[in-house]
Amino acid sequence: MKTTIALTAAAALAAKVSAACWSQSLGYSCCTNASTPVVYSDNDGDWGVENGNWCGIPVPETCWAEKLGYSCCTSTSQVVYTDGDGNWGVENGNWCGITTGSTPGPSPSPNPDPTPDNTQYKISGNPFSGVEFYLNPYYVEEVENAIKQMTSSSLKAKAEKMKTYSNAIWLDNIKNMQSWLEPNLKGALSQHQSTGKDVLTVFVVYDLPGRDCHALASNGELLANDSDAQRYKTEYIDVIESHLKKYTAQPVVLIIEPDSLANMVTNIENTPACAESETYYYDGHAYLLKKFGVLDHVAMYLDIGHAFWLGWDDNREKATKVYKKVIDSGSPGKVRGFVDNVANYTPWEDPTLSRGPDTEWNPCPDEKRYLEAMYKDFTSAGIKSVYFVSDSSRNGHKTDRKHPGEWCNQTGVGIGARPQASPISGMSYLDAFYWIKPLGESDGTSDESAARFDGYCGHDTAMKPAPEAGQWFQKHFEQGLENANPPL
Ligand code: BGC
Repeated sequence: MKTTIALTAAAALAAKVSAACWSQSLGYSCCTNASTPVVYSDNDGDWGVENGNWCGIPVPETCWAEKLGYSCCTSTSQVVYTDGDGNWGVENGNWCGITTGSTPGPSPSPNPDPTPDNTQYKISGNPFSGVEFYLNPYYVEEVENAIKQMTSSSLKAKAEKMKTYSNAIWLDNIKNMQSWLEPNLKGALSQHQSTGKDVLTVFVVYDLPGRDCHALASNGELLANDSDAQRYKTEYIDVIESHLKKYTAQPVVLIIEPDSLANMVTNIENTPACAESETYYYDGHAYLLKKFGVLDHVAMYLDIGHAFWLGWDDNREKATKVYKKVIDSGSPGKVRGFVDNVANYTPWEDPTLSRGPDTEWNPCPDEKRYLEAMYKDFTSAGIKSVYFVSDSSRNGHKTDRKHPGEWCNQTGVGIGARPQASPISGMSYLDAFYWIKPLGESDGTSDESAARFDGYCGHDTAMKPAPEAGQWFQKHFEQGLENANPPL
């Protein structure tokens, strides 16, 4: 504003600041009345006078989404849904209103404000069967951003296809759970309301006290102590439960605490952090199984590591006891089954391997043989519901790893089988292939000075430089697309 014609320096009038109040940053209040006559205009805007002081005349409100309880987008103009209110985008997994000229994007997404629906969906049998899979808007947005960094048109075309597949939504801390659970449950409901189909959403419950006790890359926010264990229950599990009880009309799958029970099978004796977490892992499972396992529209799968973790005979024997004990401790809650290979690279089938020195005498050198063996062991131990979901987000292509224990951002990664129900004939206990760990989200940082640096992420076949676990890793994503099997 031209100081030469300023009437007086603006007194700090307590004018109500609206999103469209541009003059406050210049040291002037905003006119309280939007119809105040324009006395002067300059590059900053239109000025009026109130009580003898200059005031900025607010521009018409452009952030229309705020009135509906949403923010306006600040870093995206990608339209994922349009309704009578305007164009909607997604930022950090939340809906946001787009305020400036955007063109509709290709991915249809649901209305963020579905009509409440109190009906009770009842899962009977395979929850992946006969339903549509919910598309995670957060991942769609990650892929959109990844495409902007690509130059090859064939790679871009492959990436575009990734936006049409579903993957799991990780509730990896209390804050993310609060911002992602309810909006996505609502999203699934509105997807149902617009397509008429039942819509399945898959969440990963991942915040146990002392999380990732045998590694460092995914250590969590809660420590292995009584007060954090209490927070896990009241601030995390109870809140998830209350949302699940509110959105009962659509099916939900919960993937329970990746790696935790497998660590209870093999790492109690050799890793003090796992011994310290033991009580909390068991107690946390019993608590959540009792709560979620009685909800008719919810099915749970307990994580069982992968073939080169629990596949050996002695490990499977111990595992059977651990999982039986955990399931019994959650009564009357029920689990549907187990999930294998989460975030891991073990191929579904690898005919080149068989029990012998090369596999360190592991009789289950691929995920298929691992599940076949686990099915036998678990059913003969009296576990009643034994079904599996297998993560195929990283195992389409045999990676460069020389040892099957390598788990961090492996070179040669390829996205594997597409998410689908009952994929293998003659294997009726395999409920689905599904992408649990999103391709392109890092397995762990390669920065040696980081608190969560794990030596595995510095090994030869781990891609570098890699960002923190869960952060976007473009190179990982691009390799995964190039090596996709089946091809994209
Ligand atoms: C990370 C989580 C992340 C998840 C999905 C895990 O390895 O620890 O923070 O949400 O991967 O990318």
